[in-house]
Amino acid sequence: AEVTPDQDLPQSHSTKNMKSARRGEAGDAGSDLSEQIKAATKENHIRAENTQLMLSYQKGHITTTQYKVLLCSLYEVYKALEEELDSNASHPAVAPIYFPQELARLDSLQRDLEHFFGPDWSGKVIVPAATHRYTQRLREIGKENPELLVAHAYTRYLGDLSGGQVLGKLTQKSLGLRDREGISFFSFPGVSSPNRFKQLYRSRMNSIELTERQRAAVLEEAVSAFEYNIQVFDDLQKMLSVTTETQRDASGFPSSPIMQFTAG
Ligand code: HEM
Repeated sequence: AEVTPDQDLPQSHSTKNMKSARRGEAGDAGSDLSEQIKAATKENHIRAENTQLMLSYQKGHITTTQYKVLLCSLYEVYKALEEELDSNASHPAVAPIYFPQELARLDSLQRDLEHFFGPDWSGKVIVPAATHRYTQRLREIGKENPELLVAHAYTRYLGDLSGGQVLGKLTQKSLGLRDREGISFFSFPGVSSPNRFKQLYRSRMNSIELTERQRAAVLEEAVSAFEYNIQVFDDLQKMLSVTTETQRDASGFPSSPIMQFTAG
């Protein structure tokens, strides 16, 4: 087969567009998965941006404690997400959006955790119940419905490549960090242009062959993915308000019933 510059825009992409245009079905969200998923999660995105944790962020008020607990949860989430993507790398609904070189966050999260918690960071990873629910869902769909993984990969990675870029700068500023220490999570050395990469990622999403039923399930899963993130943020915030109201244990973390300890 001839190699053309259009290889990244699979045929099914344009074919689907033509079909729906012929049927006159190109509604508000269009017929591409990338457009439908954005439209389906629009309200959830607004809610996610308006969680207490994200609002503190946007005001430049993020504290080291907030950032540390966030890193712990992100670590557990990306560990589950990336292990499930790896196990399903050759699944037809995963292969087109499998970009470990460009996107994988687990190593950078480990570096950031080591920066804040020291070399024995792995015994200090503490996450709330909401994070466990989120990772359990990732494990479950990795085993039973890998075609739904795209919804979770989209929610995290495209978010990291969008608003996440601003959040990285705000973290550095709020925490008064010199250079990039502790914030490698936000930088993507393998992605030279986040915008162009997002375009590529969307075209790959649009190339995934899904039945109507599967497509509806992916859209529903993306809404859930945002909700899992919102619940994690809310749980972290609750965990921290307990910290400020009651005395802390020796490690500076509260002993609260919503917290569960995870050995990394
Ligand atoms: C896209 C901001 C939180 C997921 C974006 C974009 C901005 C943004 C400016 C680009 C919109 C565009 O290109 O049209 C923010 C801010 C946040 C935040 C300021 C919080 C302070 C989140 C969270 C998630 C998320 C918590 C999910 C966990 C996404 C996704 C996209 C996106 C998936 C890509 C949308 C698409 O192009 O399909 N965000 N965001 N964002 N954000 Fe956020």
